[in-house]
Amino acid sequence: MIELKKLNKYYNYGKSTEVHALKDVDLYIGKGEFVSVMGVSGSGKSTLLHIIGCLDSATDGTYILGKYNVSNYGEKTRCDLRNDNIGFVLQDFGLIPEKSVYENISYPLMFNPAVKFSQIKGKVHEVEEKIGISDLSKKKVSELSGGQKQRVAICRAIVNEPAIILADEPTAALDKKTAFDIMSVFEKLNESGKTIIIVTHDKDIAAKCRRVIEITDGRIVSDSKSK
Ligand SMILES: Nc1ncnc2c1ncn2[C@@H]1O[C@H](COP(=O)(O)OP(=O)(O)O)[C@@H](O)[C@H]1O
Ligand SMILES: [Mg+2]
Repeated sequence: MIELKKLNKYYNYGKSTEVHALKDVDLYIGKGEFVSVMGVSGSGKSTLLHIIGCLDSATDGTYILGKYNVSNYGEKTRCDLRNDNIGFVLQDFGLIPEKSVYENISYPLMFNPAVKFSQIKGKVHEVEEKIGISDLSKKKVSELSGGQKQRVAICRAIVNEPAIILADEPTAALDKKTAFDIMSVFEKLNESGKTIIIVTHDKDIAAKCRRVIEITDGRIVSDSKSK
């Protein structure tokens, strides 16, 4: 469902500040896979995730998402593809702290033309229940622990029912136990059929995924299915 062929990404192409962030990346990720992308800081993990998530485009090469050749599309179509297919989870949660859990989760629904206003409440409560935070619905996000915030961010990422969940260092701001709790949330989502890609520089976190891809200096240097 996700296929990259000879993908290259340059920042500031042709300038003195040019960075060749992804180099001839070939990658296939099938529906329902649970993948981690590992590598040190600056190796190109976020760049790869942003391209897969249709947030950014490659400089050259091919990116196919389902039946769409994303590399041929401009920003508007990429944005539509992202809204329809991708949920993002970030290291620093990306939530609005002074708003309630409910409000934060409801935002992506308000921007989805396929969702009627009358459906929002039910959809928010459904994901809150699924991720185990029903009791937090009315709380302000600023009053939550890190692990609780990340659960809210996961709810927000899945509320529009994307087939693919992309997470960029989702456990980096959490202690080890909470990090593993969050990984078990991703594990359950994967068991329910979601395709999940998690960027991390933590080996123990990566080991929770079924497939580990290692990236060094913009190149995939290993790709292993561990279980
Ligand atoms: N917007 C940008 N403009 C210029 N260079 C960038 C930009 N984003 C990332 N880079 C560079 O691209 C390389 C890969 O970065 P990134 O994908 O963020 O790595 P990682 O997520 O593995 O830490 C780094 O050298 C980084 O400095
Ligand atoms: Mg990064």
